[in-house]
Amino acid sequence: MLSEPQLADYRAQGFLVLPDFLNHETCAALRAAATARVTAFEPGDHVSVFSTQADKQDRDQYFMDSAQRIHFFFEEEAFDAEGNLVVPKNQAINKIGHALHTLDATFRALSEDPRLGEITTDLGYREPLQLQSMYIFKQPGIGGEVTCHQDSTFLYTEPQSVMGFWFALEDATLENGCLWALPGEHLKPIKSRYVRKAEGGTDFITYDHSPWPQEGLVPLEVREGTLVLLHGSLPHLSYANRSPKSRHAYALHIIDGACDYPESNWLQRA
Ligand code: FE2
Repeated sequence: MLSEPQLADYRAQGFLVLPDFLNHETCAALRAAATARVTAFEPGDHVSVFSTQADKQDRDQYFMDSAQRIHFFFEEEAFDAEGNLVVPKNQAINKIGHALHTLDATFRALSEDPRLGEITTDLGYREPLQLQSMYIFKQPGIGGEVTCHQDSTFLYTEPQSVMGFWFALEDATLENGCLWALPGEHLKPIKSRYVRKAEGGTDFITYDHSPWPQEGLVPLEVREGTLVLLHGSLPHLSYANRSPKSRHAYALHIIDGACDYPESNWLQRA
């Protein structure tokens, strides 16, 4: 799948952009599948679990339970000060996670695309495993900012083997909150880890408190159907979406089963 220059690019930059990986029909089918999931989702009395006023323990539990389920996470700005939804449900969801790749037939089919396996072989994965998936809506007007982070902070192996397959299911532009990345910074160690605490709940362990460099950030403006490979240690972010256009994406994270997967990772699968 990948040429030598592409492999060299990925190793040097920490990301690789592959335009036209999916056609328009496939992107539309994936968007429709996600929309159907949201339509069927009934937040009901449990809205309190998701609102920003919710008990941290309830939110933590719902998050950790999402490892092998299809759970819905709201945009922070979808609620008013009293915790009531202020936008329709189908414009309120920030993301769906974290097991669409196993539980939803449409997303399973994409995640099992043989070309993804070929990419992992090209990159030297010995036992590529699908770990988690997310459907990201980046809703019009209220799509929240995602601050600069490394995915290996949240999903960690020794040695590092996390990689994200990030599929643009709509055009991602400066207006609707495209990805930004710090090329080459994936060669440095990770700054922090998000872990399960022995007494329950989660926490961050920070090794490096220095701020991310502001110079060198590059926008990854991509067309619908583009696949972006993201090295687990690559710092990346996206700004809030204040435009009237959504920016849907599907992210599948993989690891190498030949690496050690610590029990302290938040995500534990059977
Ligand atoms: Fe990320």
